Amino acid sequence: MSDQWGEQRSQLTEATREMYRRGLVGAYSGNTSLRLSGSGADGLLLVTPTHHPYYRLEPEELVVVDLEGEPVEEGGMAPSSETRVHLEIYRNRDDVQAVVHTHSIYASVASVVGRDIPALIDEMLLTIGGPVKVSKYAFPGTQQLAEEAYAALGNRNAALLRNHGVVSVGPDIWEALEVADLVERLAQIFVHARNFGPRAATTLPEDAIATEMEMFRSSH
Ligand code: 13P
Repeated sequence: MSDQWGEQRSQLTEATREMYRRGLVGAYSGNTSLRLSGSGADGLLLVTPTHHPYYRLEPEELVVVDLEGEPVEEGGMAPSSETRVHLEIYRNRDDVQAVVHTHSIYASVASVVGRDIPALIDEMLLTIGGPVKVSKYAFPGTQQLAEEAYAALGNRNAALLRNHGVVSVGPDIWEALEVADLVERLAQIFVHARNFGPRAATTLPEDAIATEMEMFRSSH
């Protein structure tokens, strides 16, 4: 296997192991990817292999795919079954360099209940650019899931996949991972606040929301 893109392979491996260490996924769930850069890398992505435990993921096991999701090297592992979700986002968002998909628990609770996470705390608007919307349900691995995921994401940095999990994006893999982590913490805040009563979770004042959305837009 070619050791071209060694630096990016190491980075994605480290971030994916960190996603597992933080408990954002089980050993076999979720997936990550980044856009490759450098000579000959136009339109190529590096993506995690399908059904492979993340605690022992190695850089050479990551799969290089083109924008159709086809592996460009022979003899490697098969790419993630959710590669279509990643591709759909890269096709529509030039600003995105990395995508993370997790199955973190509280965010999955919100996705099962079908509740958008509203504008609860300032950090959220500045980092995600708005509420975290829940997509319509679509079957795993399908192009329909990819389209529903992007429809819920829009120009924000995270979305919930209905009855499934989280998708987050960023200008690099570490930022995309931090967004996935923030979504989980937000979902915990949301679920715990609702334990005080169905209307106990209050949202930020409208003027704070407007100011922070503007700050997000001007920094992206
Ligand atoms: P893969 O192992 O194929 O990436 O699938 C894991 C997953 O979480 C699907 O949603």
